[in-house]
Parts: sequence; C-alpha cells; structure tokens
Amino acid sequence: MDAAAQLAEYEQAALAAIAAATDADGIEAVRIEYLGKKQGRLKDLQKLLGQVTAEERPVIGKQFNEVKNRVSAALEARQSELEKPTAEVEGIDVTLPGTPLRLGKRHPLTQTIDEFKSIMARLGFATVDGPEIEDEHHNFEALNIPAIHPARDPLDNFYLATAEKSSGGPLLLRSQTSTVQIRVMERTPPPVRIVSLGRVYRPDTIDATHSCMFHQMEGLWVEEGVTLAHLKSVLRAFMTAYLGDDVHIRFRPSFFPFTEPSVEADMSWRDDWLEIGGAGMVDPNVLKAVGYDPEKVTGFAFGLGIERFCMQRHGITDIRRFYENDVRFLQQF
Ligand code: PHE
Repeated sequence: MDAAAQLAEYEQAALAAIAAATDADGIEAVRIEYLGKKQGRLKDLQKLLGQVTAEERPVIGKQFNEVKNRVSAALEARQSELEKPTAEVEGIDVTLPGTPLRLGKRHPLTQTIDEFKSIMARLGFATVDGPEIEDEHHNFEALNIPAIHPARDPLDNFYLATAEKSSGGPLLLRSQTSTVQIRVMERTPPPVRIVSLGRVYRPDTIDATHSCMFHQMEGLWVEEGVTLAHLKSVLRAFMTAYLGDDVHIRFRPSFFPFTEPSVEADMSWRDDWLEIGGAGMVDPNVLKAVGYDPEKVTGFAFGLGIERFCMQRHGITDIRRFYENDVRFLQQF
C-alpha cells in the first residue's frame, strides 16, 4: 500500500475510534493509540515520510499534516463533549440556575473613607489614626482652647464619668479630629502632610442632618512656605477628584482657636455654593506648643464632615440612614 492510502486508512480508523469512545478514559486510550507522541500509529506513519521519493514528499507531507489536524480536532471535540457534566448527578439537576449568594458589602461611609484616603494619598498626604477617647490636652489645650472656652462646656461634650487618665485628668470622646494634628506634630518634626479620618462625638439633637456621632477628615500640611493658596488648591483638587466635576473653592472669614486666619470653605456645586468645612493657617501658638518654630514653618489645617459628601454624591437626605443598618438601604451602594 502506498503512503497516501495508508494515511487515508489511518484517518478512517482514527475517526471511527473517536466516535466510538463513550467516556473520558476511552477517549484518552484512543488519543494514545492514534496520536501518542512516543509510539502511536501516527508516529509509525511519520516514518513512511522518510521512504517516499523526493518528488512525492511535498504532497505526502501536506496530506500527513492535514490528516493529523483533522484527527486532533475531532479528538478534542469529542473530549470536551465527554467532559460535560451529565444533567443528573445523583438526583441533582446541575443544569438548574443556582440560588444567588448574597455577598456582604462595605458600608457606604467606609467606601467614602477609602476613596478619600486614596485621593489624598495621590496628593501626597499620608493617613494616620488617632484615639477616639481623648484627654483635655489634645482635644482642647494644645489646640489653643483654654479652660474658660465655651467649647469645653460639659453639656457640649461627652465626658466620660468614670474613666480618668493615670495622670488624673478627665477623659472625653473627641469632639473633633483636630486632636490628631497635635498628636502627629508632637511626635514628628516638620515637614508633615497627613490626613486623619474617623469618628467624632457631640451631644447634638439627632435629626436629618445631625447625629451625635459622625465622621471627619482632618488635613494638615506644615512645611516651609505653605500658604492659604496651597489650602485652596488642595481642597479644589480633592473635591474635583471626588465629585468628578470641576469645582471652585471660596473662603469666608471665620474663627477657630487653633487657626489664624480661619475660614469656612465653600465649593461651587452645579449652581450652588455648599459649605464643606472649617480650615485655616495653623496658629503660631499651636506650632510653638508642639515645639515647631513658627518663624520657619507655616501650615494649613482643615476639617470636613464626611457624611455630608457621601449624602451629596448619592442624594441621601437623612443622615440617620447611615447608622440604622437597614440592609435595604445598605445594599444600594
Ligand atoms: N475642628 C474644626 C471643627 O470640627 C474644623 C477645623 C479643622 C477648623 C481644622 C480649622 C482647622 O469644626
């Protein structure tokens, strides 16, 4: 028999064997017999190629390749057919659609906090954390808020009745994240460029826009040559990144004991101006108290309420939704 006839016979036999295989083991045996690399029938046929005349060789070589490709394709097709799960596995219909698995989600405020951190990181601000239970030094004194200041009124703060620091001073739940400014500057020489995001507590009457616990993002940049213009640029870059629209920032004069000058910052949003938070240049007294030289370095600080931005972006009209843990609300984010 000549080489061409042998190839044709091989192809016929291989295709028949492939069609006859009924399971994965069967098809594997066919593969080894007909296409096996080490021995196999194809290997034997390859030896034929060496024996044909030089004129015949290109024709036979082409035929050899075509036969090999057709047999391989048929084998693969049959293999995947045999691998399909059978519809019934021990009485379970595996082709029925599954029951959807409800995955947990991150809370919308956590999502906002993570996004704020990553935007600020791109602007060069590292994230730091501070304690929620504070002493009067960090919550007030170091921030230039003296003992007679009305902000220290026990009715406006959550003083802890039983807890006393070992030094004896009273403790309270922090009323602002500005405490973290002090903690960072006390332990780090300038330059510093940080944000701190976390809970603050104030005994406000709870309604659609007030809660006795909410979240703030504090920002602080102290270095030689920092000005209010830097503050404006950072706030603008931050808000533009979060809201996706190009916003403008406007300052109104204000007062905070730990910044001088102090401002309320607003941003343009669609056709409105919205208040975004308090800010200002860190008061030289505050810098001095942490051992910085106010003749050498200047800095800005800002404090923004986080809930408000999340509400703005998602059209949430009641701050209480964040804390009720109603999954119908939470699942939407
Ligand atoms: N801590 C202020 C507040 O809670 C906001 C603020 C932060 C103001 C930093 C100035 C600088 O209202």
